[in-house]
Amino acid sequence: MNRPSYTLSYLSDPEAFAVGRLEACSDHAVYASAQEACAGRSSLQKCLSGTWKFRYAERPALRPEGFYAPGYDVSGWNDITVPGHIQLQGYDRPHYVNTQYPWDGHEFLRPPQVSETYNPVGCYALDFTVPASWPKDGRVVLRFDGAETALYAWVNGTFLGYSEDSFTPAAFDVTDCLHEGVNRVCVEVYKRSSASYLQDQDFWRFSGLFRDVWLLCQPATHLRDLFVTGELSDDFACAALRLRMKIDGAEGARVRVEVEGCDAVEADCAPEMDLKIPVAHPRLWSAEEPNLYRVRVTLMRGGETAEVCETNAGLRRFEMKDGLMLLNGKRIVFKGVDRHEFNCHTGRAVTLEDMLWDVRCLKRNNINAVRTSHYPNDSRFYDLCDRYGLYLIDETNLESHGSWQKMGRIEPSWVVPGDRPEWQAAVLDRAKSMLERDKNHPSVLIWSCGNESFGGKDIYHMSEYFRQADPTRLVHYEGVFNDRRYNETSDMESRMYAKPQEVEAYLQQNPDKPFINCEYTHAMGNSCGGLCLYTALEDKYPQYQGGFIWDYIDQAIEVEENGERRLTYGGDFGDRPTDRHFCTNGIVFANRKVSPKMQEVKFLFQNVKLHVDERGVRVVNQNLFTSTAAYALTWELLREGVCVARGVQEADVPAGAEAYVALPVPQALQPGEYALRCALCLKQATDWAEAGYAQMTGEHVFTVAGDVQAAQAAPAYRIAQGDVNVGAHGDRFSAIFSYQEGGLMSLRCDGTERLCTAPRPNLDRAHTDNDQGNGMPFRCAVWTMASHGMRAVKAESEQVNGELVVRYAYRLPAPLEMELGVTYTVLSDGAVRVRVDYPGAQGLPELPQLGMQLRLPARFGRVRYYGMGPQECYIDRECGASLGIYETTARENVTPYIRPQECGNRTGVRWMEAVDAAGHGVRVEMVDAPLQVSALPYTAQELDAATHQEELPPVRYTVLDVAGYRMGVGGDDSWGAPVHDEYLIPSDKPLSFSFVLRAI
Ligand code: GAL
Repeated sequence: MNRPSYTLSYLSDPEAFAVGRLEACSDHAVYASAQEACAGRSSLQKCLSGTWKFRYAERPALRPEGFYAPGYDVSGWNDITVPGHIQLQGYDRPHYVNTQYPWDGHEFLRPPQVSETYNPVGCYALDFTVPASWPKDGRVVLRFDGAETALYAWVNGTFLGYSEDSFTPAAFDVTDCLHEGVNRVCVEVYKRSSASYLQDQDFWRFSGLFRDVWLLCQPATHLRDLFVTGELSDDFACAALRLRMKIDGAEGARVRVEVEGCDAVEADCAPEMDLKIPVAHPRLWSAEEPNLYRVRVTLMRGGETAEVCETNAGLRRFEMKDGLMLLNGKRIVFKGVDRHEFNCHTGRAVTLEDMLWDVRCLKRNNINAVRTSHYPNDSRFYDLCDRYGLYLIDETNLESHGSWQKMGRIEPSWVVPGDRPEWQAAVLDRAKSMLERDKNHPSVLIWSCGNESFGGKDIYHMSEYFRQADPTRLVHYEGVFNDRRYNETSDMESRMYAKPQEVEAYLQQNPDKPFINCEYTHAMGNSCGGLCLYTALEDKYPQYQGGFIWDYIDQAIEVEENGERRLTYGGDFGDRPTDRHFCTNGIVFANRKVSPKMQEVKFLFQNVKLHVDERGVRVVNQNLFTSTAAYALTWELLREGVCVARGVQEADVPAGAEAYVALPVPQALQPGEYALRCALCLKQATDWAEAGYAQMTGEHVFTVAGDVQAAQAAPAYRIAQGDVNVGAHGDRFSAIFSYQEGGLMSLRCDGTERLCTAPRPNLDRAHTDNDQGNGMPFRCAVWTMASHGMRAVKAESEQVNGELVVRYAYRLPAPLEMELGVTYTVLSDGAVRVRVDYPGAQGLPELPQLGMQLRLPARFGRVRYYGMGPQECYIDRECGASLGIYETTARENVTPYIRPQECGNRTGVRWMEAVDAAGHGVRVEMVDAPLQVSALPYTAQELDAATHQEELPPVRYTVLDVAGYRMGVGGDDSWGAPVHDEYLIPSDKPLSFSFVLRAI
């Protein structure tokens, strides 16, 4: 066999990317016998993952040259785990950058130059034996499923070749290098190569063997490649599975194809075959009903089984018709996420458990699609998506962001690949490696040409390759947005971070192509406000076909220091340049805890909408294929948050239909506020959720009028008017107002103090990542300053109808010079009504909030409230919240966004109690309108000052921030998009709100 020769020059040669490598092929399973296939365990594959010998060198010149020679002593080397990243096992350092190339500012490099001074090399060695059972007349292949960014491989001293494209397999024929007994595989993995220009994704820059390594036996008669496609008649009633096969050693062999429920087909083998298996009564594949057909191909020679191959296949038709993407004839709407492969301990070396957890999490939360941003994923993930039902945009490992966009500005003078011929083959190879590997997965609906690599000829050719090699799918590429020369690269119009109004503007002009947001609602920190503005487009414009949330999981690394575990981000490892915590944009935290943003996503992505009124519910089934028969319709009537009636009902609504279901809600209701909550709950457990799981929800809030006002009793307290203070003293309570401190300085019940300081008006809230991105802290600095600097300039008290009324005026510092009024009225039962008046003024920025901040002792940290929940919510992120009585604690309310920020808010608060273990504390109640309240152990300033959760100070207080108005969090993007107007608090009009504060 002709072997290539080893040279380091491959590293900087864009035309060297697959030296000595075998052709890419399908990822079907291979077994030696039918028994093995049934057990799902193959004797023809040996996994070489585990502990390898390892030597690290910071640059090529320092590597142990010639270590791949037989007999080289590696016994003194360290151990390393494969799969795994070099940087997470004690070498080099994790490095995070977004669009800029990671060497920027260290060295001046232009494509295809690669640094000679810093290019970490991982030298790996492993001794192995070849299973004795393997047929001697076959071929043995060594396959690396993922090696970042470039790998050289040897077996027993023979150089096998060189491979780039970190995210698809690199396979080498090693048959003639093996011998009896112990063999050795040696690998050099380089962190940097010309490939680095093509994989400038926004992620941690890791290297190493991060996916499994395999030794594979290919019998003399071997199915080298299998391409199964489903063919369907126009009415979807007739179907066939078409199998295209490439067979090695075909001569004299027979092939038998079995598909459950179909007649088996047998034929003589040929090197290339094309067979059709008719499928009677086809069961189509969709995410809603992921029907799979297990296809078994048995190769036989002389009556003996040579090999048994299996793959799942799905019958489905995905097509573009009249400007719409249709799945099995129906308009599809992607309710998707972008997903990086990530685990906070092992980086992109993810386990099957991680993948399974993710798939279940997605299904539980009504997410139906994933874009494998921005590279082909571990093959096992596609199997799970086939089985559980998730649509995939499978993305080529291509991103050259730093070559054409610099600090947001487009400057493509040295863009790669562009139209450059020397990069074209590498780019096409990436596409081919992905397509060939993944082509049998019904979950893959769309091939994506990569991410943010500008436009040009090379990527256009890639798109044409996809179309020609696989007409059963569509092609996606967002990058043409920035370079329209080859607009036909993408079959659909795809944008990222387009504002809802921009999306609408596109849809209103009768476009040829349908629209998707390949990235939207940037979930960095406390975000995803206004998601409902996007999902509202689904029913308004057929050509709006959904979007993919950026993104699914935070990429933060958990480290352990002095026995404490903490999450870290870019820059924490001394890695420079860095884009800091820009790698944490997930709806799931890096440690796979679900963030409160999911509450909104789950609700807005539900395929069945429950429009509830006082008597029943209109069930609108927007599923394309499945009825609601799998769910029980449960309902619950709450009065003031307490359940007064409930029931379960059948509601079998066909796909695409709607029906009104009347509910036996009690007729004569006592006056009060009611919430009728409905849910569609799984009747039986599924692979992703338990029986009873509420997959879809809806509710309606209404009031039943009546006289609920208790008669006002005459004040039963004594007023003590002093020189500096005025107090109201009842049987069990007292309230003292200070003229000097400027507020309610004491509130006691049974003699115990509830307040640490007098409540102060607060016009600011802690800043979210989105606020930082759009300059809100700068723009609204007057309100930050005003909240710190305001002082009480007037204090007066009087008695009105026997009640003590104390009025304060707070003067806001220059340049505001306005006065804010706070009026306290001590009610007959000792409760204190607080009213805040903001005068309004022209020419000022939006108000972050209008509220009062109460500092209570920390022990009043147990929170119970009647309002929207159970998770944190904001006025632009409350669709998924429901009205009820919930319990939490101030500490739990600190949502662990990697950078501490505004969090823990609840909207629609009717009342909230913050109490100690004995139930003593304070209670706030709404007066005219529901409040927004957060109960946290920190002030906004403390949250803002910390850059990581563990920097937050020791807990001394429970800070209750009671607001009449608090702006939303925004979310269209985190680098400039403002909070939508309807979720802002305008500062030019007078505003006021009231609440009642009670010591309990
Ligand atoms: C997009 C990019 C993503 C990510 C995101 C910001 O431009 O495609 O990979 O960087 O912005 O978080």
